[in-house]
Amino acid sequence: MGAEAEPSGTTWVFGYGSLIWRPDFAFVESRTGFIRDRARRFWQASTDHRGVPSRPGRVVTLVDDPGGRCFGTAYRLRDEERSAILAGLDHRERGGFSRERIPVFFDPAESTSVSALLYVADEANANYLGPAPLEEIARQIRASHGPSGPNVEYLTRLAKALREMGAEDEHVFALEAMLEGRE
Ligand code: SIN
Repeated sequence: MGAEAEPSGTTWVFGYGSLIWRPDFAFVESRTGFIRDRARRFWQASTDHRGVPSRPGRVVTLVDDPGGRCFGTAYRLRDEERSAILAGLDHRERGGFSRERIPVFFDPAESTSVSALLYVADEANANYLGPAPLEEIARQIRASHGPSGPNVEYLTRLAKALREMGAEDEHVFALEAMLEGRE
């Protein structure tokens, strides 16, 4: 079902990257939640926000992780604002991300869920970088800067937001430690 056809008051957007700490759109409520069988990885090049075409940065996308949980923030939109907000997000996430619909759970027992839209950059998009040694990812993040600011800021703000919501993320926290010289 397209977002436009949804019943009143039920459009949710799930953010797992910059959309956690800088949603930049209006919403009725926000809730910490998780999606199943996915993990967050700095495997997507950013040439429009945290890097430039000649020196791309790295931002997160989602990869398959059977049995895993990826925490983030779910936002419920106002009906009358959803078209404009989704158009704005389509533009913001235009560097290889496309919309997907997925259940978001709000409790560990997975008894409550909503159907949400999220933006994911899959292997088929032109900016997909895929896996690399963590040291190499950290080096690229340290060296990159784009129209939205330094790539390091993207990582540190994401790590801080995840910690504040009590979410574990080995990949993100290991990169943060490397960039802070703790590893
Ligand atoms: C997201 O935050 O949900 C998508 C990736 C990003 O914009 O950082």
